[in-house]
Amino acid sequence: MKETQTKKLIIAIDGHSSCGKSTVAKDLAKQLHIAYIDSGAMYRCVTLYALQHNIIVDGVVNEEKLQHALNNISIEFRFNPETQTNQTYLNTILVEKEIRGMEVTKLVSTISTYSFVRKKLVELQQKMGEKESLVMDGRDIGTVVFPKADLKIFMTTAPEIRAERRFKEFQEKGENISFDAVLKNIQERDHMDENRAESPLIKANDAVVLDNGNLSKEEQLQSILQELQKRSLI
Ligand code: DC
Repeated sequence: MKETQTKKLIIAIDGHSSCGKSTVAKDLAKQLHIAYIDSGAMYRCVTLYALQHNIIVDGVVNEEKLQHALNNISIEFRFNPETQTNQTYLNTILVEKEIRGMEVTKLVSTISTYSFVRKKLVELQQKMGEKESLVMDGRDIGTVVFPKADLKIFMTTAPEIRAERRFKEFQEKGENISFDAVLKNIQERDHMDENRAESPLIKANDAVVLDNGNLSKEEQLQSILQELQKRSLI
């Protein structure tokens, strides 16, 4: 297998919340020496900004303020050579930890229903894809952002398995939250992601389904690499 890409390669990974998309996307990007872009982190940045600037108060979003605020939001990913991954910066400040907290997690599905938010972030994502080869994960990458992606993967796993994984992560980070609350949040996010009017989470017709409930990290990576090989993309 070639270690470095010559032709530009776009790989879209969509799927439900917390089903391990980012883990496999990062491994894949590392293996192929291409960029990894976490599109969910971009929706999380907008949510964090809205919380920090009183655009969301008691769970209620001020739509007009949010629309104006988008002009003041810049989101970048900078490669950290120590961790060998991209880290998320909101208006030049590292926010990797803040955007993963429960407060942002609870509100991000609501923020991502606004069509003006999606329009702005999709444009940014498409610009990133014009520049370089990448693996991008999210909910609408294969359907809206890169409908002509070279390979589309649709990942899924039972909500209980996903909640168990996320619950462990919260425990490791010292966030005090019950398993039931994590499961409820995942089920609510699935419902919102699948039922929103704008770019709902659906499998693209030409996407390959990857149910990773019983697959190790390495098996998931290998199965995507095989799909790339089948298509002579690597
Ligand atoms: O992948 P994640 O859990 O970090 O995503 C956070 C939220 O952002 C998720 O609830 C749905 C939304 N999202 C989206 O609507 N479209 C994307 N391409 C990525 C994420």
